[in-house]
Order: sequence, then C-alpha cells, then structure tokens
Amino acid sequence: MSGLFDLAGKCALVAGGGRGIGEAIALGLADAGADVAIAARTQSDIESVADAVAARGRRSMSVTLDVSQIDELGPAVERVSSELGEIDILFNVAGINIRKPATELEEEDFDQVMGVNFKGAYFLCQEVGKRMIGRGQGGKIVNIASLATGMGLPKITVYTGSKGALGQLTKGLAVEWAEHDIQVNALAPGFIATDLNSHLWENEEFNDWILDRTPAQRVGTPQDMVGTAVFLAASASNFVTGQVIYVDGGVIAGSVWPL
Ligand SMILES: NC(=O)c1ccc[n+]([C@@H]2O[C@H](COP(=O)([O-])OP(=O)(O)OC[C@H]3O[C@@H](n4cnc5c(N)ncnc54)[C@H](O)[C@@H]3O)[C@@H](O)[C@H]2O)c1
Repeated sequence: MSGLFDLAGKCALVAGGGRGIGEAIALGLADAGADVAIAARTQSDIESVADAVAARGRRSMSVTLDVSQIDELGPAVERVSSELGEIDILFNVAGINIRKPATELEEEDFDQVMGVNFKGAYFLCQEVGKRMIGRGQGGKIVNIASLATGMGLPKITVYTGSKGALGQLTKGLAVEWAEHDIQVNALAPGFIATDLNSHLWENEEFNDWILDRTPAQRVGTPQDMVGTAVFLAASASNFVTGQVIYVDGGVIAGSVWPL
C-alpha cells in the first residue's frame, strides 16, 4: 500500500456501516490499515462487520446508534474515542428513502428522511468535528450523497432534498473547517444494488431504465465505492475539500445517446 493511501494508525467511524455501501467502506478502510468502529441501528448487522474488520487484523468495535436521535450522538462519539481511539475519519453513510408522490408525502415521512439523511449527518459532523478541532491534528469527513444531490428524481423529493442539503453541508463545513486541516467531501454513488433498493431490481422495466441512463452499462456494487472512499480518507486527498465526487458509471455526466 502506497503511503498516500495508507490508513495504518488511523481510527475511523462508519455510521450506517452495517451492510451495503457502509459495510464495503468499513472493510475497505480496514484493508487500508484503519481501525474501524461501525455504528448502525441493528446490532446483528454491525457485529458481523466488526468481526470482519477484526479478521483483517484491525481493532474494531460496534455501536448501536440511531443517528436521528441527536442525544445519542455525543455519547457514541465519546465511547468510540475512549475505547478505540480519537476519530480521524468519519463516514456518514446512514440513509433511508420513502417513495411517494410529492402531493402525498406526510410531515412524518419528511421528518423521518430528513432526520436520518441530513439532521443526523449534520450533528454527527458537529460532534466529531468539535473533537477534531480540539485535538488539532486535522481529519477527514466523508458524507455519502447521491445522484439526487445533483439531479432531480421523481417520487423521492424529500430524499432528493436531504441529499441536496447534504452536498451543501459538505461545502459549508469544508470552507469553515479548512483552517483546521479537516477535509470534508461527499461521495455520491450512482445506482448501486443494495438492500435499500433490492425490491426495485426485480422490476425489469426499472433495470432497463437504469441501464439506458448509465454509460457504463451496468449497475454498481458497494465494492465500486471503496477506492474513492479510501482516497477521501487518506492523505492522498489532503488538498481535496468541499467536493461531491460521483461514483456512478457516468450517469451524472450525461445520458447515453440514443442514435
Ligand atoms: N444503493 C444505492 O443505489 C444508493 C445510491 C445513492 C446513495 N446511496 C446512499 O448510500 C447510503 C447507504 O445506502 P445502502 O444502499 O447501502 O443502504 P442500506 O439500506 O443497505 O444500508 C443503510 C445502512 O444505514 C443504517 N441506518 C439506516 N438508518 C439508520 C439510522 N437511523 N441510524 C443509524 N444507522 C442507520 C442501516 O442499519 C444500514 O446499515 C445511504 O445514505 C444511501 O442514501 C445509496
């Protein structure tokens, strides 16, 4: 492993690391040398990921945490810092989606999606950022955005709003914390097959729609996210901040030409 991408001696917290994209990122960080704390709502998910991190010879811990419960965040960060080590790298991966036409979305739906995707990420950045600033050794924060950060998608308007806000939060924090040598970036996955959207892959029409819009002509995998995640967590990206990097097989760049 080149020194630029070496995470040995670093401590990472992956919030939403229990499965899917977060699991792949947690294991990728461990492969690059980091000790990793995995936080998610379901204990069974995070334990198996923590075990897989430990099997790679890294230190690991699992933390049961609902990121939308703001009063849980401070104690969780405190626990990771005292038991695993001060957090050098934070990944905000936890995310949910509710599919409904905008005319039917209820306030409860709105609060739920914004609570996990934006408010939870905001206050976890705050908790970890405060400690990074106090410690004076810089840090890396990566928010998992979406295609919906940069384009409109129908019937998921509150998800789109939350991911747009997350992209702008990334830029705001990047400029506010640059003087502390904290880089804040967003990784925006394209269409990736995970539990979040497994029901959609059974629909042939949907699959065709995705392939028509993905210049790479395939659906992504959680593993496709790992290279960019390690880059954004490592010293290789020390002059990269406030960016939304799309890892999407070309979707955001434009459509496949139909002629
Ligand atoms: N799958 C895709 O195509 C895709 C595309 C773009 C962006 N994303 C984003 O990537 C992230 C991960 O998506 P995924 O497809 O791997 O999803 P997933 O549903 O497979 O995994 C989500 C993870 O977040 C955790 N989580 C959910 N709510 C939580 C909460 N309140 N508190 C703590 N943890 C919570 C879950 O336990 C799980 O570990 C999400 O932010 C999602 O919006 C996914």
